[in-house]
Amino acid sequence: MPLHRNAPSHAEEPLSVRPQFAGNLDREIPRHALPARSMPASTAYQIVHDELMLDGNARLNLATFVTTWMEPEAGRLMAECAEKNMIDKDEYPQTAELERRCVNILARLWHADGDGDATGCSTTGSSEACMLGGLALKWRWRKARQAAGLASDRPNLVMGANVQVCWEKFCRYWDVEPRLVPVGPDVAHLTADKAVERCDENTIGVVAVLGSTYDGAYEPVQEICAALDRLAASGGPDVPVHVDGASGAMVAPFIDADLDWDFRLPRVQSINTSGHKYGLVYPGVGWIVWRETAALPEELVFRVDYLGGEMPTFALNFSRPGAQVAAQYFNFLRLGEAGYREVQQACRETASWLGDEISAMPEYALVSGGRGIPVFAFRTVGTAFSVYDVSDALRAKGWLVPAYPMPTGMEDVSVLRIVVRNGFSRDLAHLFLRDLHAVTDRLTGTSGGAGTGGSLGPADAAQRERTAFHH
Ligand SMILES: Cc1ncc(COP(=O)(O)O)c(C=O)c1O
Repeated sequence: MPLHRNAPSHAEEPLSVRPQFAGNLDREIPRHALPARSMPASTAYQIVHDELMLDGNARLNLATFVTTWMEPEAGRLMAECAEKNMIDKDEYPQTAELERRCVNILARLWHADGDGDATGCSTTGSSEACMLGGLALKWRWRKARQAAGLASDRPNLVMGANVQVCWEKFCRYWDVEPRLVPVGPDVAHLTADKAVERCDENTIGVVAVLGSTYDGAYEPVQEICAALDRLAASGGPDVPVHVDGASGAMVAPFIDADLDWDFRLPRVQSINTSGHKYGLVYPGVGWIVWRETAALPEELVFRVDYLGGEMPTFALNFSRPGAQVAAQYFNFLRLGEAGYREVQQACRETASWLGDEISAMPEYALVSGGRGIPVFAFRTVGTAFSVYDVSDALRAKGWLVPAYPMPTGMEDVSVLRIVVRNGFSRDLAHLFLRDLHAVTDRLTGTSGGAGTGGSLGPADAAQRERTAFHH
């Protein structure tokens, strides 16, 4: 049974092939079985191409954090590398070399010790990187407990209820108790005091998110580390920190250079990022770096053949495309520090301009504030229509803007979120604002009466079901 079951109403009908492509082939082919005969590549291409027309326009997708535009040269490089398997380090030693360079570049960007010998790897995205970071924490904690003759069967991980779903997956898949700290009432993410309160001798680590998925805010990594330092100094457990910098670890180093959040804080053991988010690469690449070799337990590392020798790997997958790694290195060369700074700064300026314009509208208020990635969330204020109505109406104009409830602790507030990415120009932002005004006027005209603002009524709850958004 496929996991995705949102089948169209005509799902049982065969696929029809347009007359000019069918020639003397079948005009109808099965939808859920292999066709009996082959068809020309151009026909197969046209069928798939036509079907994909109904996907949204990726550039107007303000829901995703993932890169939707790269330079043509990057696209060309990726096409040239399409057949390369990242795991075949022996056959593709230069792709492996580019991966090694990228890890070192990131380690240096995040202030790890060492020069050219950083411990880290590429992954399919931040989710896999977070799994690897979590596994390293679990293994280290268990080893220490076993060495001290203490029980090691009830590990827990402390994090805000605003973490991305990958951390709940990690806990479920690897039998770790998720200690999800409710957010709110004023702050929509983890705070130092609440993190420390939840830690005990079974805590394998605290996850601090740099760029919360819900509203883009940076969690206070430095304060969390300082509070954990005090806990350890007072005889409490010595709890390491993993920074989930899926977005923020490629933003803060360039436009928030004065923020202390990385390996400059001794308690930070590992950091992940998504190369395919603010690393500016098309989907399929993430990264994780440990502060030093000792932070990654040796038992987790497997050896693969590499140029007749051995290459250490730590991954959940085996085969994986190499093209994204080449594209990441292309971006590092192409943009350099100054280029990344300009791109991220432009995104931040557009996000802040658009946020100001939206908060000036009487129907909306910003939910996020303060420092963070170029992402913001806003809610309705005193309107009879809900954020779900706005999301639906914007979709009719081509804009994909998700609406969802905030995490546990603030779940009665529902918001819309906008991710400003490379390629969402100020001009597009103006066009979006024009459409938001039009949609708001229309919803105001058709609804009438004051409503419950950002709160969910029963009708909204039904809508939420319909437009459920998964982080
Ligand atoms: C904070 C955070 N962590 C992890 C992830 C998962 O990242 P990926 O999609 O690269 O697996 C996301 C995705 O949005 C995220 O925002």
